[in-house]
This record gives sequence, C-alpha cells and structure tokens, in this order.
Amino acid sequence: MADLSTRLAGLTLRNPVIAASCEYTMTERGILACIDAGAGAVIAKSINEVPAAARQLDVADYTLLDSGLSRTPWETATGHETLFNRSGLAQTGVDDWMATLDRTQRYAAARGAAVIGSVTVASADGAAELAARMAEAVPAVEINIGAPHGREASAVRQLTEADGVAHYIRTVRAAVDCPVIVKLPGQASDIPGMARAAVDNGADAVAMIGRLNGFVPDLETWEPELGSWGAVGGPWMLPVSLYWLSKCYRHLSGTVPLIGTNGARGGLDVARFLLSGAHAVELASLLLLKGASALTEVLSDLNAYLDAHGVDRVSDVIGASVHRAREYGEIEPLVPARRPWPQP
Ligand SMILES: Cc1cc2nc3c(=O)[nH]c(=O)nc-3n(C[C@H](O)[C@H](O)[C@H](O)COP(=O)(O)O)c2cc1C
Repeated sequence: MADLSTRLAGLTLRNPVIAASCEYTMTERGILACIDAGAGAVIAKSINEVPAAARQLDVADYTLLDSGLSRTPWETATGHETLFNRSGLAQTGVDDWMATLDRTQRYAAARGAAVIGSVTVASADGAAELAARMAEAVPAVEINIGAPHGREASAVRQLTEADGVAHYIRTVRAAVDCPVIVKLPGQASDIPGMARAAVDNGADAVAMIGRLNGFVPDLETWEPELGSWGAVGGPWMLPVSLYWLSKCYRHLSGTVPLIGTNGARGGLDVARFLLSGAHAVELASLLLLKGASALTEVLSDLNAYLDAHGVDRVSDVIGASVHRAREYGEIEPLVPARRPWPQP
C-alpha cells in the first residue's frame, strides 16, 4: 500500500483526503464522523464576525439536480449529482465554537489527523481576530475569500482581485502564527495572480477553486429553483478546477502546497487533483450527499489506484501531469489533421 501521508503548510496529514468546510462539518458529531471515516483533515464549517452571516443559514436551502437539470431525490443520490443551494455560516456562539474546535482537534490529533478552523471573510480585521482565536485550538486556519454567496449577500465577501487578497491575508498573517490556508474563488479573471498575492502576503497554502453561482428555471412553473440565485457545483466542474489548479502549480513552480476542491466525487477524482498539482483535496458535496462513510470509499479507491500504478508515495504523483503538459505553441502540427466530427 502506498504511503498516503502528505505535507501541507507545516502539517503532516495521514492522507490527502480532507472533509471540506460545509454543513456536515458544522457539528462536533459531523467532524468526528469524518475523522473516524479516515479523513486526513477536517475543515470545520466557517464562521465570521457578522451576525447576518449566521442568520443567512436560516434561509439556506439545498436541491439536487440530475444531468438534465431536473430535481432528483436526496435518498437515491449516487454522489454524482449537481448540488444547487443557498448557504450561511455556523450559528454556534464563538466561545462554544472554540470549545468544539479544541475537543475535535484533540480527538483528531490522537489519530494522526487534524481539524482546521475556517473563516469565510467579511472584514479583514474580523477575519484576523477570529483566526487568532482559532489558532489557540487548531493547528491551521483556512481563510475563505471566495464564497459564491458573497455575490448575493453582503454578510460574506467574495474577493476577485489580487490587491484585495493581499490586504486580507497580510492582516490575518499579522495576527496569527499558525499556518494559513487561503481559499480562492472560482469566478475571477486572474486566479494564479490571486494565488501569488496570497503567498507573497504570508499564506502557507492555497486552496482552489470555490463553487460558482448559478440560476436554474423550472420548465413547468417558470419559478427559479430555490426561488433565487444560488451556488452550484457538480462533477462537471472538475476539469475547470483542475485547470486553475494546474495553472497555479505551474505559475508558482510547485513551491507552494496547493489544495484542490470543487468537483471531486471519488478516489479517482482525488488522483486527478494530485496529478494536477494538489497536495490534498477537499470534498464537501460528496459528504452532504452520502455521509462521512463515503470518505472511507474515496480512500480505498485512491489506494487501489496508486497500487495499480506502482506508486509508493503520494508525493510521487503530485503535479505529474502538469510536468507533461505543453503550451499550445509547443504542439507540433498534427498530420493528418484531426477532424473527428461528422463531415458535412
Ligand atoms: C452546502 C455547502 C456549504 C459550504 N460552506 C462552506 C463554508 O462555510 N466555508 C467554506 O470555506 N466553504 C464552504 N463550502 C465549499 C466547500 O468547502 C467546497 O470547497 C466546495 O463545495 C467544492 O467542493 P465539492 O465539489 O466537493 O463540493 C460549502 C459548500 C457547500 C456545498
């Protein structure tokens, strides 16, 4: 069996499979279930300093869509559905939340895993203050500056420019000593530039990319699904996430640990993220669709894949496909030219 351990922002995780910040990791029970299922780390549900962000959870709603964009029941979910939703942040009071982080981190550490605190930003100062409190309990914090809901509600902010990233991360870095992971948005024109700004201002690792915003009319009622705009993600997102991840891996010359997220629904998708430059992979939708036990299956499929390819260590595959990728200008003309579609 391959050595699955991975180094990430000063932490050594027992494996690269991370339970991502979401409603499943919003309770002590959910966090512990992910650790018991084998996760290398669990990123707790985000909080921030704005009460409206927690209230936003009162109007959260979630629907699953099949590949034809029709609603499909949760009970029969395969794990490959599109998840369309509104969301808000954890409603637990800060003191109680710190106690939860502390207890779950002790449990995780005894099992070679880690709990990571998360702030989905409103103000930079608020994020810095909360991150500093979290750092008393957990070994790392993730600062999410890319929440899609930031486009719909002012209780959280979505940053899309390198200057904003620099300001927020510099402010957080000045307040905490522990490793800082920065989570980038999925909708921005220069994601590698934002990754660079994060690293230059003190980030130890960069996670990418956030989910996108979506809108889905019901063809019978003409009402939009959920009655509003929302955030959307699915397996169809994976190539886009891998695109930005691999571009950032190349842009940063593989020197900064990157974390992949958005679109992984199984162990082979985790392998695709690793091959594209990720040191670890965050999964949320799969958890929400199938529960923590899905992570055990992800790990088993990842192990089987690595064994079948004679890989001894996860670190041997990180970025392997990016090293093989060529720029368009480096590709020789194809003779004969490829025209695979039906010819007119
Ligand atoms: C319902 C829901 C709630 C989420 N809440 C948070 C959050 O509080 N903080 C955060 O950083 N990311 C949050 N995310 C984003 C996930 O952590 C993850 O990065 C994203 O869903 C993409 O991964 P996936 O394709 O495995 O779902 C949330 C995602 C979903 C679906």
